[in-house]
Amino acid sequence: MPTQLNGRTCDMDAMQAIADKYGLIIIEDAAQALSSKFRGKCAGTFGLAGTFSFYPAKLLGCFGDGGAVVTNDDEVAQKLFLLRDHGRNEEGEVVAWGTNCRLDNIQAAILNLKLKTFTKDMERRREIASMYDHALRGIDDLILPPAPDEDEKHYDIYQNYELGPGIVMS
Ligand SMILES: Cc1ncc(COP(=O)(O)O)c(C=O)c1O
Repeated sequence: MPTQLNGRTCDMDAMQAIADKYGLIIIEDAAQALSSKFRGKCAGTFGLAGTFSFYPAKLLGCFGDGGAVVTNDDEVAQKLFLLRDHGRNEEGEVVAWGTNCRLDNIQAAILNLKLKTFTKDMERRREIASMYDHALRGIDDLILPPAPDEDEKHYDIYQNYELGPGIVMS
């Protein structure tokens, strides 16, 4: 279960190699990485399923709690569909155990609105990360996150701009 932390997708070739070696399924925690990419492929789309958080502090935040799971697997999708709504199927019959994880309509409307500028907003985050990089690069005591485009395999969107050692800004 790789965690795509701070808006950076980890090296998914390395993850896949481990999964292949030990016969493991990959499920990504992409709560902090919506639209971040590794080798041009989005976080959350590498494994059997990927999860995203829409908590207010996240890249795409609503005004309360929210989230999403993506999968290409029909069976997993069907199970998730039941789990999120008390085990109710499309006919409204309870056919499995479930809980209430429905996305509230108001939160969905807020997310819909924010999605319109999402790509632009992520570009702005990358611009600001570049500014931090230029301003802080010369300070020897700081460990900076990789600059945008520093490594062509990664497209980072800086959920947090985390400085080391021991200083965290978000
Ligand atoms: C990496 C990571 N995983 C999971 C979560 C949990 O997301 P949520 O609060 O939407 O359940 C968060 C949010 O804090 C997170 O940053």
